[in-house]
Amino acid sequence: MIKIYAPASIGNLNVGFDVLGAAISPIDGSLLGDCITIQSSKKFELKVLGSFKNDLPKNELDNIVWKCWNYFCKKINKKINIKITLEKNMPIGSGLGSSACSIVAALIAINNFLKKPLQNSELLILMGKLEGIISGEIHYDNVAPCYLGGLQLIINQKKYLSEKIPNFTNWLWIVGWPGIKISTSQARNILPKKYSKETCIQHSKNLAGFIHASYTKNSKLASTLMQDLIAEPYRTCLLPNFIKTKKKIIEVGALSCGISGSGPSIFAITKNTDMAVKISEIIKNNYFKNKIDGFVKICKIDTIGAREIG
Ligand code: HSE
Repeated sequence: MIKIYAPASIGNLNVGFDVLGAAISPIDGSLLGDCITIQSSKKFELKVLGSFKNDLPKNELDNIVWKCWNYFCKKINKKINIKITLEKNMPIGSGLGSSACSIVAALIAINNFLKKPLQNSELLILMGKLEGIISGEIHYDNVAPCYLGGLQLIINQKKYLSEKIPNFTNWLWIVGWPGIKISTSQARNILPKKYSKETCIQHSKNLAGFIHASYTKNSKLASTLMQDLIAEPYRTCLLPNFIKTKKKIIEVGALSCGISGSGPSIFAITKNTDMAVKISEIIKNNYFKNKIDGFVKICKIDTIGAREIG
């Protein structure tokens, strides 16, 4: 039997639309991600557990984990008879890399169970392909950090698909899911087809400057440059109370705040634990749809990524 845990992630990080993503883990030691267990079986079986299992498609063939299994079988030209159990702990359409968690955990688990017929790079390409099926376009900013851990820069060149870049180890990442769902493809379709020359230049400066600041350990410069010119201006209309909540978070002194991936989750950064608690309260009181469905977690960067657990 093999059990793989794949952590939640924040895509874009404001400054790197589709090219930056970070895996995260709550500082209280709890797990925030999906798990996949594989057991030997005479036939293929898919069982679904977890808090969000009822939000998954009713037809098994539409489940992304079934698609992972199917793609894997095609890739190695063989029907794999296994029992897969998905623990769907992540809310779907949350902007926290929920689909990436299922895809990454499933593909690693199948690969490990079969004694690794696919290499890491082949797996990552397959992960991107499956993520593309769900969101309409291939983007690696959730699957890469979820798989490889840390802060990942997507380069998408043959030998350099994604590279880990230094992260600020004293940053706390507060993420809040408001209890509503947004489809990534809808949040992508709302974006402009073209951007002005000024926006492109400013975006390049911010992203290049952020990478420079990461390598030179300049936390102040890095957080100042975490500005979203590409997605946030067009996506806030999908996010009730986002602008108001962000304003309050910045007012209490957060280093940065933005939309996690394609939303609706919000993220904020601070170095201070008391401020992290304050930000959590702001999110709960201003951004939650109601008191029952959402959650807020204070996290650190998960430097390991997907892993086998007992
Ligand atoms: N970069 C992707 C987007 C992330 O913003 O559409 C999706 O989680």
